[in-house]
Amino acid sequence: MAKQFDVVVIGGGPGGYIAAIRAAQLGFNTACIDEWKTRDGKPAPGGTCTNVGCIPSKALLQSSEHFEHAGKHFADHGIEVGGLKLDAAKMLARKDTVVKQNNDGILYLFKKNKVSFFHGRGSFVRAAEGGYEIQVTGANEEVITGKHVIVATGSNARALPGAPFDEENILSNDGALRIPQVPKKLGLIGSGVIGLEMGSVWRRLGADVTILEGLPTFLGAVDEQIAKEAKKAFDKQGLKVELGVKVGEVKSGKGGVSVAYTNAKGEAQKLEVDKLIVSIGRVPNTIGLKPDAVGLKLDERGAVIVDDECKTNLPNVWAIGDVVRGPMLAHKAEEEGVAVAERIAGQHGHVNFNTIPWVIYTSPEIAWVGQTEQQLKAAGVKYKAGTFPFMANGRARALGDTTGMVKMLAHADTDEILGVHIVGPMASELISEAVVAMEFKASSEDIARICHAHPSLSEATKEAALAVDKRTLNL
Ligand code: FAD
Ligand code: NAI
Repeated sequence: MAKQFDVVVIGGGPGGYIAAIRAAQLGFNTACIDEWKTRDGKPAPGGTCTNVGCIPSKALLQSSEHFEHAGKHFADHGIEVGGLKLDAAKMLARKDTVVKQNNDGILYLFKKNKVSFFHGRGSFVRAAEGGYEIQVTGANEEVITGKHVIVATGSNARALPGAPFDEENILSNDGALRIPQVPKKLGLIGSGVIGLEMGSVWRRLGADVTILEGLPTFLGAVDEQIAKEAKKAFDKQGLKVELGVKVGEVKSGKGGVSVAYTNAKGEAQKLEVDKLIVSIGRVPNTIGLKPDAVGLKLDERGAVIVDDECKTNLPNVWAIGDVVRGPMLAHKAEEEGVAVAERIAGQHGHVNFNTIPWVIYTSPEIAWVGQTEQQLKAAGVKYKAGTFPFMANGRARALGDTTGMVKMLAHADTDEILGVHIVGPMASELISEAVVAMEFKASSEDIARICHAHPSLSEATKEAALAVDKRTLNL
C-alpha cells in the first residue's frame, strides 16, 4: 500500500523545503520529494537557490570582491600585496563546499523536523480517495499519497532562440558559476540581476566583460535615480553595458562564441567572446510533474495558475515560488511556503507582496522595497523624497566605500513610507530596516526620530528620512 502523508511537497528548493519544515512543525506527516543530485548522484536539496543560484553566486561574488580589494583597494590602507594571483580551481572548490554545507544543512533539518525525504522526481498520477497519488522516480521508486500537495518545482533559465545552452560556450546560470578559468572576453545577454552579478564576478577577476541588453533603459524596474547612480559606478569599473540592442545569430565553435546584433543606432555589430552567458529571464518549471494527469491548470508561460493564497484550480493542491506568478526570489518562495503550510493548518498565513525586498549583489549593492519614484508619478500619488549620499556618512568614509545613496519616498500628506531605494555599501543589510518600517506602516518621521548607532551606514537611512522633511543634520 502507498505511503500516506498529510502533506507532500514536490520540489526541495527554498519554497519547498521551508514549506515542508513548517508543515511538519504544525504537526503534519510531511514528505518532500526533490530530484536535484550532485555529480556523483547524491541528493542535493535546496533547488536552484542553493545549487546554482543565490548561494554559489554570492560565494563567487565574495571571492572576486576580495580579489579586487587586494589588487586595487588594499594599497589605500597602506597594505602592500605582492604577486597577487588567482587560483580559480580553489575558488570554485570553496564555492562547492559552501553549496554542500547548505545541501547537508537541509537534509539535517528534514531529519530534525521528521520530514520524510524522497530523492527523485515526483509526478502526479491521479486524484484518489483521500488525496493525490504521486509517483516518485529515481533512487526511491514508489507511489506515495498526499492529502495536500504543494507544488514547488521552481524555474529554469530561458535560452535564446536558436542558441541552446551547451554549458561549455553558451552558459546558463549553471555554467556561469563554474567557468574553469577566467575568460579573456566574456559576453552576457541581458543586464538584469544575473547579468550584473555574474558580469561583476568575472570582471573583477580580470575578464573583459560586455553585456548586451535589449531594453533601451538600464534596470528599468529600479528607481531611475538609483539606476543612474549604479550605471555610473559600473561604467567606472569597466563593466560595459550596451543598451537597446537586438541580438541576432549566435555562432558557437572551438574558438568561442560570436554574437551578431544590431545596436541602438540600428548598425550591424558583432561581439566575439570566449564564453557567452545568457541571462534573459527564467521560465517556470513543470517538466516531469505531469500536471495533465490531474488537470492542474498552467498559464500560457507554463506557470501553475494560483490565486492570492497560492491555491490552484484543484482542491488541496497548492503552488508556490518560481513556478507561480510574482517575483522569482528565494525569500518570496519561502514566505509563500510558510503561508501555505499555515493555511493548510487553518491559520491565516499571509505574504505582503508590497514589502518584498529586492537586492542586486553587485558593488555597489542595489536594494529596494516598495514603490519607485516613477511608479508613484505614474499612479498620481503625492509624495516627498529625501536622499542622503554615503559620501557624507562617516562609516562609509572609514570603509573607503562612499558610492551611492539612500533615497526615501513618503506620502506627501500622511508621511507613510512608500519606498526606500539604496545603492551603496551593504545595501542588502540596510534594506531590512526599511522593510520593517514599511511592514509597520512607519512614517519617515518615525525613522528620523529613531536613534541609529554611530558611526554606521544605517545613519544614511535616518538622514534620508530627515531629508524628506528637509532637515538633514550632516549635509
Ligand atoms: P527552486 O529553487 O528552483 O527549486 C525547485 C526544486 O524542485 C529543484 O530542486 C528541482 O530539482 C526540484 N524539482 C523540480 N521538478 C521536480 C519534480 N517533478 N520532482 C521532484 N523535484 C522537482 N533569489 C534571491 O532571493 N536572492 C538571490 O541572491 C538570488 N540569486 C540567484 C542567482 C542566480 C544565478 C539564480 C539563477 C537565481 C537566484 N535567485 C535569487 C532566485 C532564486 O534562486 C529562486 O527564486 C528560488 O530558488 C526559487 O525557489 P523555488 O523553491 O521556487 O524553486
Ligand atoms: P532578469 O529578468 O532580471 O533580466 C533579464 C534581462 O534580459 C532584462 O533586462 C531583459 O530586458 C533582458 N533581455 C530579455 N531578452 C533579451 C534579449 N533577447 N536580448 C537582450 N536582452 C534581453 O532575468 P535574469 O537576470 O535572467 O534573472 C532571472 C531571475 O532570477 C531574476 O529576475 C530574479 O528574479 C532572480 N535572481 C535574483 C537575484 C537576486 O535576488 N539577487 C540574483 C539572480 C537572479
